[in-house]
Order: sequence, then C-alpha cells, then structure tokens
Amino acid sequence: MNTTILKISGLSVSFGGILALDNLDLDIKQKEIAAVIGPNGAGKTTFFNCLTGLYAPSAGEILFYPGRDAEAVSLKGMKPHQITEKGVARTFQNIRLFPGMTTLENVMIGRHCRSRASILGALFRNAATRREEQEIIDTSYTILERVGLAGYVNELAGNLPYGAQRRLEMARALAAEPLLLLLDEPAAGMNPQETLNIMELIGEIAADGLTILLIEHDMKLVMSLCQRIFVIDYGRKIAQGSPGEIRSNPDVIKAYLGA
Ligand SMILES: Nc1ncnc2c1ncn2[C@@H]1O[C@H](COP(=O)(O)OP(=O)(O)O)[C@@H](O)[C@H]1O
Ligand SMILES: [Mg+2]
Repeated sequence: MNTTILKISGLSVSFGGILALDNLDLDIKQKEIAAVIGPNGAGKTTFFNCLTGLYAPSAGEILFYPGRDAEAVSLKGMKPHQITEKGVARTFQNIRLFPGMTTLENVMIGRHCRSRASILGALFRNAATRREEQEIIDTSYTILERVGLAGYVNELAGNLPYGAQRRLEMARALAAEPLLLLLDEPAAGMNPQETLNIMELIGEIAADGLTILLIEHDMKLVMSLCQRIFVIDYGRKIAQGSPGEIRSNPDVIKAYLGA
C-alpha cells in the first residue's frame, strides 16, 4: 500500500529571475492525505499551478502513476485539461465558480472532461447525447449529495453561503473523477465549525479511495488529518515527515516563528 502516485523531482520555476520553486523533490503515496505547508509566499500555490499545467516549470519532472501497475505519465508540458483527464483535479485558493450558473451546472462543467459527446451530437441531440447528458446530471447530483449540497442544486452558485461555495469547488473537482485531488487552502475563511465539517468531508473522500494533497494554514486541520507533511520555505523543501516529526522540527519552527 506504499505505491507512489506522484513523483516530483528537481522542480524549479522562476518569475523574472526569482526562484519561486527551487529544486523541489517530493513524492505522494497512493491513498494518503498529505499536506504542503509553509509561510505566505513560500511557493505552495505555484507548486499546484505547475502540477496542473498553469505554470511551465523551468526544470524538473512531474511523474504521475495513474494505477498500481500503470506506466508513469509525465504531466510536464501537458495542458490543464489533459492533466485533468489523466486524473488530477484541484480547487483554488480563491474560489473560482461560475456565480451566475446553478450549483448543479457548476458541477456538470467539472464532469465535462469525462464526456464524449461530439459537437454534432450536441447540436442534433441524438439519443447517445441525451443519455450522456442524463448521466452527467445524475452523477453531478450524487456528488452534490456527497458533499452535503443537495439542498442547493438549483440555487445560483453566487448566492450560496461562503462555506457552501468552498464545498461546491470540491464537488466540481470530484466530478472529474480524479485519482489525485489537490486542495488549495480548503478551510480558508471558514469558521471553526465549518472547518470541522470540511475536515470530516476530506476524510470521507479519502476513505472513498482518493489520494489527497492539500495546502492549508490551519495547523489543527493539517496535523489531525494528514499522514505526511511537506514544508516549503522560499520555494525549497525544508522538511518532510509525520505530524509529530514536523511539529518538533527546528527548521520548521524557525520558518514559522522567524530566526
Ligand atoms: N504569476 C506569477 N508571476 C510572478 N510572481 C509570481 C507568480 N505566481 C507566484 N509568484 C510569486 O511566487 C512566490 C510564491 O507565491 P505563491 O505560490 O502564491 O505562495 P503561497 O501559495 O505559498 O503563499 C511569491 O513571491 C509570488 O509573488
Ligand atoms: Mg497560496
């Protein structure tokens, strides 16, 4: 049960000469919940942006292993939608929903990458297209139930309470049927009760068999939910280990409290 799902080696990115990620090595195991933590500006979101094809790394390799015995796929150089198709989905630190569309429609969009309907099929709405559309609706609804948003199906996403919008982002990512789910600060801006609820949900999703890598500032969440933690500071990995190891690591304490 210790098979690698994602192997990052020597990953670097620079913006105008500033190294935002500096020779990062990191590997994620199948079905674990792992976290990337680090001070503001450390490069955490940049890391996710590289993994999902939004930023082009200047060096390094990103290998994804979609199954137990599956061959490695290099995600480097792939377009975001191709990476989603391979089985990596994400949420964003700043919520990115379509506020003028319904909750259900927002999830249906996330399902798009698993649909096959051609443009012609969509225009003439043949039987296969209608069947597929119904499948997308049914699956999207099931996912909304899963994340506790079944009561909001026809509400406009923009009208949902903040905590519900964060769940909807997760639902949309889940609609792509990922093997690896990347969550960028899933509890950001949440009150303590909402944070507990989202923790519970993340735990349930992981129990369904997904691998989860999350970025989070809420240390209680990270320490109680994650099996392994990677600490990044100034684009470099300064520590990795279990919550207990990370808590007592002097480099980590220094990065957080200042020298
Ligand atoms: N598109 C970009 N252009 C220029 N600089 C960027 C860009 N994206 C991120 N950075 C810089 O990279 C560093 C890391 O940012 P980020 O990954 O957002 O940090 P974190 O998510 O850890 O708070 C910061 O100094 C930030 O200003
Ligand atoms: Mg960030």
